[in-house]
Amino acid sequence: MVDASVAQRLVDEMISNLPRHDPRQRPVHTIGVGVDAYFTASDVAHKYCIAEHFSGQRICAKVRFSNASGGPEQHDGWSDVRGMATRFLLPSGAATDLIATTLREFFARNVEDFLEFTKLDKHESYQRESPWRKILDMLQLKVPRRDPYPGEKTNASAGILSYANRHRFAQLGVFEFKMIGAPVSYARAAYHAIHTFIVEGEDGVRRPVRFSWQPAAGVRNTNSDALPDDNYLRQELDDRLRRWPARFMLMMTIGEAGDAIDDPTRPWPARRVRVVMGTLTLTSVPKDQAAAGEHISFNPWRLVPGIEPSGDPILHARRDAYEVSREMRGGIACPFFNRS
Ligand code: HEM
Repeated sequence: MVDASVAQRLVDEMISNLPRHDPRQRPVHTIGVGVDAYFTASDVAHKYCIAEHFSGQRICAKVRFSNASGGPEQHDGWSDVRGMATRFLLPSGAATDLIATTLREFFARNVEDFLEFTKLDKHESYQRESPWRKILDMLQLKVPRRDPYPGEKTNASAGILSYANRHRFAQLGVFEFKMIGAPVSYARAAYHAIHTFIVEGEDGVRRPVRFSWQPAAGVRNTNSDALPDDNYLRQELDDRLRRWPARFMLMMTIGEAGDAIDDPTRPWPARRVRVVMGTLTLTSVPKDQAAAGEHISFNPWRLVPGIEPSGDPILHARRDAYEVSREMRGGIACPFFNRS
């Protein structure tokens, strides 16, 4: 387990990178929207995982979608990773969380990598390149630098790229991060829980698995040539859910011998068995956003019997970092979460 001072340091380092930070808000994934939802497990889910939310009953859920960047600015139209944190409110009175992002692989294998990344993730002033510079880049077979987004005055690209240049393990995650774009809707992106968890089936067999959410409406990004407004994702979701519920399928990929269990930077081969574990139905964007999302503190360690964490050092580091962050921003402690 990561010691408490490391958890504090992780959060402090993240905050030190932010040009503006409101201590009452999350240091990252600051801007988000809470949504009411329910989850129904598939017929086969319980066979693979005995956890209560896979028993087949309808389970109430709270979902918070977010932009990954820290700070109080919205910037929905900017290229950024998006988050989807889900709390399943179980009939027994317990709760369990599943936290996912649009990134498939992470860029750090452990706390040391993450701290190194955070040191380099510093913002520098970012200006539009002249057309001549772009032509020169193309003549030298270099990809010209993209133009700043409306309102973008600083950017952390240089530091992040130097981190990726130094570490091969980080290149997939950083490449995905740089290419990710902006979704037309929070309901039109796929989200991945990244880490491996160990689930227990009805037959007592324990399997390493990775979870992801696939949107029933399909994945669609905005057109980067016609950037939308900087503040559209919450309104779009509200409008969408007033017309019709939106759905996500929960997919569980089963790992095989030799697959990376404790390393979130390494993908698994594409031909692994994937099981549909259930459907999440988003129903409405409640007016009281404090209760629907802002006051909730999600944690990837809020698990129930049938699902256990793997040995992934990043997953272990997140356990206390999220609690430290919750305490710092005055979030409500979860009665189902035991830190001991
Ligand atoms: C060592 C690595 C990481 C650290 C230190 C870290 C830290 C944090 C912190 C401090 C928060 C705010 C928590 C709060 O105040 O409630 C947060 C939120 C979040 N993180 Fe991480 N994180 C890490 C890795 C990851 C990974 C691998 C994922 C991908 C699954 C992820 C996804 C998210 C999401 C989606 C949120 C927003 C949750 C919400 O809406 O409340 N993080 N992270």
